Amino acid sequence: MNILITGATDGIGKQTALELAQLGHTLFIHGRNNERLAETKEWILSQVPEATIETFKADFASLEQVKNLATNFLSKGKPLDILINNAGVFEKQLGYSEDGFERTFAINYLAPFYLTLLLLPHLKTQPFAKIINIASDAQAYSIDFKVLNAEKGYNAYNAYELSKLGNILFTFKLARELNEKSITVNALHPGVISTKILHDGWGMGGGSWHSGAATSVFLATSSASNHSTGNYYVNKQKAKASPAAYLLENQDKLWEISLKMCEINLK
Ligand SMILES: NC(=O)c1ccc[n+]([C@@H]2O[C@H](COP(=O)([O-])OP(=O)(O)OC[C@H]3O[C@@H](n4cnc5c(N)ncnc54)[C@H](OP(=O)(O)O)[C@@H]3O)[C@@H](O)[C@H]2O)c1
Repeated sequence: MNILITGATDGIGKQTALELAQLGHTLFIHGRNNERLAETKEWILSQVPEATIETFKADFASLEQVKNLATNFLSKGKPLDILINNAGVFEKQLGYSEDGFERTFAINYLAPFYLTLLLLPHLKTQPFAKIINIASDAQAYSIDFKVLNAEKGYNAYNAYELSKLGNILFTFKLARELNEKSITVNALHPGVISTKILHDGWGMGGGSWHSGAATSVFLATSSASNHSTGNYYVNKQKAKASPAAYLLENQDKLWEISLKMCEINLK
């Protein structure tokens, strides 16, 4: 299968890419830095010499770069079976994206929202396709639409949790919108894993990259999950997300706001 993984130059995404290459899949790996992309490609090829890997660069703090990534990918004319939205950050300080959005929200939530909608028509050309969104158990339990951009002050944990609730709201809403069996969309918590997000944000170590990749690899490759859509997974099992994620009004409102932020007209 052809699989695009964002944020594949470190941590969970890098390990997921390696394991999917080991299983014989064709990889399109995304990162924000060409050297890190080249290093990652070499790292995978050193372990899986027969792997087919193409690299794509885009800084997710820029919607224009997200759009260029999609355009670049589509220009290759390659089918896409699976999109894994994995890239993410923990931003200690308040900062803004090129488009003026709070950076955590922009990188963790808005970029994968935009990328997914840009690639959706292409994904739909496949007989069966999957979208896998990496969220987190560190997800907000409520959402105030008036402060999506830290308008009342910045707290890095709140910003991260809001972005991760956003990933889940988007997953549930997109599954409802698609309402078809030929394309599934699910979200997951990868576990508490030793990566720079965990070190930067929580100052601690966690599980192995291998365990962090397990649920992504499971959802991508297991036929057992083929009929599952609009679900949240932990440890390869369906799990309960924050109650705020199930409120249709939250899903619908964030969707509408995000379309406006990305200047998408679906009509
Ligand atoms: N680690 C955990 O315990 C944990 C728990 C729950 C959820 N998660 C989620 O798991 C996902 C992967 O995170 P990780 O823990 O593996 O962190 P990581 O090791 O820091 O990897 C993050 C990836 O995202 C990329 N990235 C960062 N900023 C970017 C930007 N502005 N534009 C494009 N790409 C960017 C990074 O690129 P560089 O290589 O250039 O930095 C890297 O490839 C994230 O969505 C995170 O929220 C992690």
